[in-house]
Amino acid sequence: MSSFVPSTSLLLAMLVATGAAAQSADGTFSSNQRFVPKNGEVLYRSICQGCHMPDAKGAVGAGKFPALARNEKLEANGYPVFVVLNGLRGMPGFGLYLDDEQVAAVVNYVRSHFGNNYRDNVSAGDVKAAR
Ligand code: HEC
Repeated sequence: MSSFVPSTSLLLAMLVATGAAAQSADGTFSSNQRFVPKNGEVLYRSICQGCHMPDAKGAVGAGKFPALARNEKLEANGYPVFVVLNGLRGMPGFGLYLDDEQVAAVVNYVRSHFGNNYRDNVSAGDVKAAR
């Protein structure tokens, strides 16, 4: 058996694979670390559920993550927009990583799911005005 000598094309393939791994495996992040998905549910699953839990009922443990499910504070639609853009104490803001459309999508998703039934959706324009 001859010893293993990688060919140029194999080396190239390995380099490309390493580059791809430096980004996120599931494509959640773009190469400049902004979130790609525009869909509110996908954004919730990618960003929010890690802290607020998949059922949005929150958690108490290493920190206190409030429930977004059946949360009356979501009634005023400017409030969740503000929190997602700027953060709130233990929650980081996502204003730098999400565009106006994405903030509106994830806020509208949370306000119309998990037992919340607020119909007055926010628009990308509302988010832009809140920045
Ligand atoms: C790193 C953990 C973390 C992530 C990720 C996160 N949050 Fe939070 N969130 C928190 C914490 C902690 C608080 C409570 C802050 C406080 O009151 O001190 C909070 C509070 C909130 C509140 C205010 C709730 C209330 O009752 O006042 C809203 C709304 C909210 N988050 C929405 C979201 C949305 C939407 C996302 C996804 C875009 C998200 N959060 C992602 C940790 C997180």
